[in-house]
Amino acid sequence: MDINCPLDKTTLKILNDARIRSIVPTVRELVGKRAKVVILAHQSRKGAWDFIGLEQHASLLSKNLNAPVKYVNDIIGEEAKGSISQMKPGDVLLLGNVRELKCESVTADSSDHAEAELVAELSPLLDYYVCDAFGAAHRSQCSLVGFPMKVPSASGRLMAREIYALKTILGKPRPPSVFILGGAKFGEVPFMIDRVLENGIADTVIVVGLAGNAFLLARGVDIGEASSKILADELTEENFQAARDVLGKYGQRILLPVDVAVERNGKRVCVSTGDMPTAEPALDIGDQSIDKFKKVILSSKTSFMSGPAGMFEKPGFEVGTRQLMMAMVESKGLSVLGGGHTAGAAERFDLADRTSYVSTGGGALETFLLQEPLPVMEALRYSKKRFGPE
Ligand code: 3PG
Repeated sequence: MDINCPLDKTTLKILNDARIRSIVPTVRELVGKRAKVVILAHQSRKGAWDFIGLEQHASLLSKNLNAPVKYVNDIIGEEAKGSISQMKPGDVLLLGNVRELKCESVTADSSDHAEAELVAELSPLLDYYVCDAFGAAHRSQCSLVGFPMKVPSASGRLMAREIYALKTILGKPRPPSVFILGGAKFGEVPFMIDRVLENGIADTVIVVGLAGNAFLLARGVDIGEASSKILADELTEENFQAARDVLGKYGQRILLPVDVAVERNGKRVCVSTGDMPTAEPALDIGDQSIDKFKKVILSSKTSFMSGPAGMFEKPGFEVGTRQLMMAMVESKGLSVLGGGHTAGAAERFDLADRTSYVSTGGGALETFLLQEPLPVMEALRYSKKRFGPE
């Protein structure tokens, strides 16, 4: 399951449980069939501030399922195996954050992952593997692609629903199409921009959020130490060069913020990029950028957003994300939102129901849009061939 959720930076509490709610139908159906359901999932990435165990996830799943969900903070040790062996039909058990395991972060293909420690330890205990992690379907990790090599596997209801909906809705995005790419995973943005612009999937790309700050830097704007510091991990020379390359290649088809919003004396203050650097970190796009981007979005026939425009959890700095989403739903074109944080923001602003489609997948959705193979789907196809009926 992909129940990777946005957290509050101070309290580390889950801010939005949309991804947890989205997997309830699959769990409920399996429980209804009296299966013993053991769930593997991750939260964030090792080393990140929001990399935590899954205790809260278990209680929220239990609440949404209206049934007990046991949590053990262990994955392949005696505690996990002991808990599995004690399960009764209809029980649900969530294991610890699977990204605690070294083998989960190894870059390998599915046949190598099939030999990983996680798969070796747990597959003898399983009859079937059901993958409902659409949000992580673009990742070739052992918890996702290793098991289908070893045990009969199937996709869950969420995975099936997402693929069906995306194929139906996004078969052919109508031009002009605008992609709004934000959030914190800057490293993946230049590649995405290159592919969508090169293949004509998007006519224009708007870069916002932390990715927007990184692109400003790549365009030669001094964003200041405070903003650069937040980017630290993602700001490798390679990522930076990739950003410069796409900016050089596509010029004005890539739109960057013309101002940013910072917190000064407890207030939201907009600072134009010409007046940067700022001592304070940029927490949102500024009002002039909002106006500029809204015009582009309102005249589009397809708009897609993955990653928020700013720190929308912080009062006063939700403006950029909310205004761009408003423009998407008002554009009368097809509007698609992707990713845990983006979907959470849409719910918070009461815009999720007014959007054409909200996907639980961010990177997975982008990979799907690029018509690139999703490693998890490939692994499930393999499993069907190997273990399924003739
Ligand atoms: C997501 O939130 O996109 C998925 O959970 C995958 O997370 P990752 O980008 O850390 O692999």
